[in-house]
Amino acid sequence: MGKFMLINGPNLNMLGKREPNHYGHKSLLDIENEVKELASSLGHDVECMQSNHEGVIIDQLHKGGIEGYHGIVLNPGAFTHYSYAIRDAISSITTPVIEVHLSNVHARESFRHTSVTAAVTKGQIVGLGDYGYQLAILALDRMIRGIH
Ligand code: DQA
Repeated sequence: MGKFMLINGPNLNMLGKREPNHYGHKSLLDIENEVKELASSLGHDVECMQSNHEGVIIDQLHKGGIEGYHGIVLNPGAFTHYSYAIRDAISSITTPVIEVHLSNVHARESFRHTSVTAAVTKGQIVGLGDYGYQLAILALDRMIRGIH
């Protein structure tokens, strides 16, 4: 029914190996497969991508908008805290974007307390580990069913 995107930003290809105290033990592939499984059980497709490059993430957001995707789940990684270009890319499309962070950024270093992107997203899910991605899919499912 819906066409969704899951976009993960820099260093998230290292999930499972990278600071498991903050980001857990699952690999990105595990997380992507679980997200696809949940979405497909609700009748949706998810295209997953990860990039360590700001411009590639911007191109992917534009693609989501231009090609009429119904929703985007985005973990911009550290770009969250300073990328006005990713913020502008989110603003430039009408596709709803949900921002997800695995760790509770508010309980960490002060530079992580600011998100320059959150204000132009539909909403933000923070600190619930990989379950946050699943919650984002559930939220998009409700949105496209018109029950938000
Ligand atoms: C993160 C939080 C960011 O501060 C960090 O730079 C990341 C991951 C998270 O999912 O908790 O790369 O977005």
